[in-house]
Amino acid sequence: MNRRDAFKKIGIASIALGTAGVLVPNMAVSQEKIPSKLIINRQRMSFADPQNPSDFELKHTPEITFLENDGKGFTRVKIHIGSKGIVHPTEENHWIDHMKIFKNDTLVAFTEFENGPIRGYAEYYIKLATNDVVLVEVGCNLHGIWTNTSMF
Ligand SMILES: [Fe+2]
Repeated sequence: MNRRDAFKKIGIASIALGTAGVLVPNMAVSQEKIPSKLIINRQRMSFADPQNPSDFELKHTPEITFLENDGKGFTRVKIHIGSKGIVHPTEENHWIDHMKIFKNDTLVAFTEFENGPIRGYAEYYIKLATNDVVLVEVGCNLHGIWTNTSMF
């Protein structure tokens, strides 16, 4: 068998395995782990009174904290959900299902959270310069999409 025929066979075998679900079982399982019916609210939310947010609103607001610089231009950024010491619950039917981080309107990170075993929290090293704006969007499966921004 020459090299070309070998690659053809590998390609055909990969396609056959893929359609049989052998090569992609983790993706299929992952998508089944979080039933989409549990994510029922994708409405963009905001504070009713920005000067006086409620505990419910603070519970869904990502708190952005800039920490130390690594000496190479990357700053450690801590993101906690929610704000001012109020922690969003993490339960099988109510949890923070995703987090997106934007630097000056450019998406730099996207994280999905499973329902139950992990809280909405993250730390990243992000290359930041003075006046860069970090926007964090989080999704609560029941209470919608919430954002917060912080200028570096
Ligand atoms: Fe919630």
